[in-house]
Amino acid sequence: MLILVTGGAGYIGSHAVRALQRAGHRPLVLDNLVYGHRQIAEQVLQVPLVVAQVGDRALLDQLLSGAHPACGGEPVAAVLHFAAYAYVGESVSDPLKYYRNNLGDTLTLVEALVAEGQRRGTAPPPLVFSSTCATYGIPDSGRIPIGESCPQRPINPYGRSKWMVEQLLADAGAAYGLPSVIFRYFNAAGADPAGDLGEHHEPETHLIPLALDAIAGRIPHLQIFGSDYPTPDGTCIRDYIHVSDLAEAHGLGLEKLLAEGGQHVFNLGNGTGYSVQQVVEAAERLTGRPVPVQRAPRRPGDPPVLVAAAESARRHLGWQPRYPDLATILSHAWAWHQRDPLA
Ligand SMILES: NC(=O)c1ccc[n+]([C@@H]2O[C@H](COP(=O)([O-])OP(=O)(O)OC[C@H]3O[C@@H](n4cnc5c(N)ncnc54)[C@H](O)[C@@H]3O)[C@@H](O)[C@H]2O)c1
Repeated sequence: MLILVTGGAGYIGSHAVRALQRAGHRPLVLDNLVYGHRQIAEQVLQVPLVVAQVGDRALLDQLLSGAHPACGGEPVAAVLHFAAYAYVGESVSDPLKYYRNNLGDTLTLVEALVAEGQRRGTAPPPLVFSSTCATYGIPDSGRIPIGESCPQRPINPYGRSKWMVEQLLADAGAAYGLPSVIFRYFNAAGADPAGDLGEHHEPETHLIPLALDAIAGRIPHLQIFGSDYPTPDGTCIRDYIHVSDLAEAHGLGLEKLLAEGGQHVFNLGNGTGYSVQQVVEAAERLTGRPVPVQRAPRRPGDPPVLVAAAESARRHLGWQPRYPDLATILSHAWAWHQRDPLA
């Protein structure tokens, strides 16, 4: 089937494109390339790429109906919506950029899906949406691991933009029958085991690529923000989930929507937390090299512990992460890091 993948030239979206290709679907990428990579889409994945803003309604109408030349005459069966800006700090200093892009463009996409359903005389084509554990804010310690029913109290505009889209999707599902899966990812990490796809953000803010950058001498040191958290070694604990496992979950979510519709919300994590210090030590063990570290004060708004209760996706989608252990996640990230053609 023809599947529109917004943000498919980015980190997680590109891995989902590969999973769709392997499952025999025909992905079509819509990406503005502000953070995505043409080379990954065109040369590595060899997927049709439309370079534009998700909020371009006329373009969306053409793509969804199959009238756009990139569709090969076939209408879009479903949309995987990864496109968003995701820098928490920038969202605080420039919140309107985040509401415009993450919320405004998604509203336009949902309007186009509803209109396409009306044109077809069916339910709107289904949507799989990339949400985030940032919608939970700072959960009470008694709420960890975090289940889907944990109260959502996002503490920055990025998290709020994602939370608002979740509300929008719930309302559009109730009113227009828009089928949707909302995935709340924990910390995406790792790289395709084939070694030709991986994480390359500019600027990079994620722990694992930064630790590997420090090992490789691409940056002088890794900054560790806060060593006085109420955790065993004083550093923050996060739940790292392999990007290929996220991609796999999207395929399962898509199948569920195509088979039975409905509205679903799932956390995607491993249910195991690792501290920043543990990640650093695991990276040192893997590479046999030290991570130069600089200790810095806590950053405002970093919760001490974020670990998913992720049984629901396992139970309802049959999702079983293939690469749950940190050493594997790191080894795939390191293999990619050493041959990253974008570096
Ligand atoms: N990386 C993580 O750990 C993580 C965790 C939770 C949620 N998420 C969410 O997952 C999604 C993918 O994250 P990622 O790490 O792959 O980010 P990414 O920046 O690598 O990919 C996002 C892609 O979307 C494109 N894009 C952004 N806004 C667009 C727009 N309006 N129109 C067209 N293209 C646009 C960018 O150019 C980029 O290629 C995002 O929605 C993010 O909020 C990521």
